[in-house]
Amino acid sequence: MACFVASYTKLLVDTNYICKVSRHLIDSLQLELYFSLLKTLNPLTMKRLKFLLTAFLTAIFTITVITACNSGTPTADSTASGKTVTMATSADYPPYEFIDTSSGSQDIVGFDVDIAKYITEKLGYTLKIDNVDFNGLIPALQSKRADFVMAGMTPTAERKKNVDFSQIYYDAKNTIVAKKDSGFTSAASLSGKKLGVQLGSIQEEAAKKFTGVNVQPLNRINEMIQELKAGRIDAILMEDTVAAGYLKSNTDLAANVIPNEGESGSAIAFPKGSPMLAEFDPLLAELKSSGKLEEFITKWFGDKPA
Ligand code: ARG
Repeated sequence: MACFVASYTKLLVDTNYICKVSRHLIDSLQLELYFSLLKTLNPLTMKRLKFLLTAFLTAIFTITVITACNSGTPTADSTASGKTVTMATSADYPPYEFIDTSSGSQDIVGFDVDIAKYITEKLGYTLKIDNVDFNGLIPALQSKRADFVMAGMTPTAERKKNVDFSQIYYDAKNTIVAKKDSGFTSAASLSGKKLGVQLGSIQEEAAKKFTGVNVQPLNRINEMIQELKAGRIDAILMEDTVAAGYLKSNTDLAANVIPNEGESGSAIAFPKGSPMLAEFDPLLAELKSSGKLEEFITKWFGDKPA
């Protein structure tokens, strides 16, 4: 019915337009002669003309209705459905995001991926995930190569100058990972030592403030673990939520949480001004209130919340 009314209104507008055009034509061609000729026509010819005009208008009306109904104004839902959105992540961060080698499929899985899948599914988007070095994630948003970033990324004042953030969905603390019995348990104990950090991370920023420490930025967390085990670096500054997993599989390592200075936690990042933030944020809130987020936390982090 709404479509019919819309089509009819469109028809009136169209008819008005046709009338205007023909009037203009008549004016410009000065067809008074044509009208005087019409007057001389006999009633039968007038009837035929009337019939032709009605048929013409009916045809226009039908065409208008069909096209208007087919190309009707899309709703928010139909715009979203099927649209592919790209999430950029740095898949070196178990259990937030990592490559699932066990399945042989090289799929990127994890806590962030489950949240992203939940939200994009609800919004009717198709999710594509790109694996980028952590340091390249904000540039990916700025150049619109990605629609959003989920990478256990902390919303810092510095980053907020370049991207927009959702609310925080999980928290973490900084911890020093080193070989057991190395005694590297505080920033002060690392003076003169090589400390590995992820390039572009908040841990890199924090480490730069430790006095006398030789900061070694590296691209990927697993590279850092290898460097540490090989003795090429003395310790790593990373998040406790990620360290826990590495400690399980590397019993020669230990972790010591240090006091958090400044920002912490994970949020979803978007290009500045992206309308997607307003779509995602309520669903993130729903994830929290419905208990679904707790379910994901238990699934990926075990019972111990950060
Ligand atoms: N939370 C830290 C930051 O925002 C580290 C995140 C590292 N994430 C990753 N996927 N490697 O700087």
